[in-house]
Amino acid sequence: MKVIVVKDYQAMSDLGAEIIANTIKANPSCTLGLATGSSPIGTYQNLVKAYENKEISFKDVKTYNLDEYCGISRSHPQSYYYFMHDNLFNHVDVREENVHIPAVSNDSLDEDCKKYNDMLHEASIDLQLLGIGGNGHIGFNEPGTPFTQETFIVELTEKTRQDNKRFFQSIDEVPTHAITMGIQNIMQAKKILMLISGTSKADAVVKLLSGEITPDFPASILNNHPDVTVIIDQDAYSKM
Ligand code: GLP
Repeated sequence: MKVIVVKDYQAMSDLGAEIIANTIKANPSCTLGLATGSSPIGTYQNLVKAYENKEISFKDVKTYNLDEYCGISRSHPQSYYYFMHDNLFNHVDVREENVHIPAVSNDSLDEDCKKYNDMLHEASIDLQLLGIGGNGHIGFNEPGTPFTQETFIVELTEKTRQDNKRFFQSIDEVPTHAITMGIQNIMQAKKILMLISGTSKADAVVKLLSGEITPDFPASILNNHPDVTVIIDQDAYSKM
């Protein structure tokens, strides 16, 4: 695991975008695994700038998102479908047919998971972008999720719902379930880029970098992946 400590959120976002832009330049038809949350927003803003400056094009890029809430529609401002379009896809030349975001159809959750999982099996993700939950979750793989898990419906922990409450009017509005790539899907990516910012992630950084691998802290499995870069800002690194 390559650890890069940077000054602040902006520096993390600059480097994050540079790594992704270089991936696109090296292979304009690459496949990216994308994440939501506040961690990647600055990175996406930089990628939009790079597109506007004609440094990169998403014309042939394929994308697969990690996860999506259950129980809110794609048009809900807090859906991850909405987030991705609002922060990235609406501002670049990605083709909608190349965008993949897990979805729940309300017919059969098992079918929804199988459908997304089959897509992931056919894809080959060149670079997977990740944030980290305060409890170590990646995607929405909460503590205790087996490392062999593939796409599934997860019941969100109270901690995760509280962490994400800031985006909703009240805790009652925060979805209780989500569909997420499993840890095994995430680990299949050729490269992984994790972004960690802020003091609220300082304990998570200590656990991640301790090297102990345990399902109680899902992100710890990244220690077993051959090509992981973690960009950590000084606030998040402050307990090291
Ligand atoms: C959500 C997402 C994760 C994300 C995490 C951290 O729960 N499902 O993919 O990494 O939040 O979010 P933030 O970057 O806002 O701290």
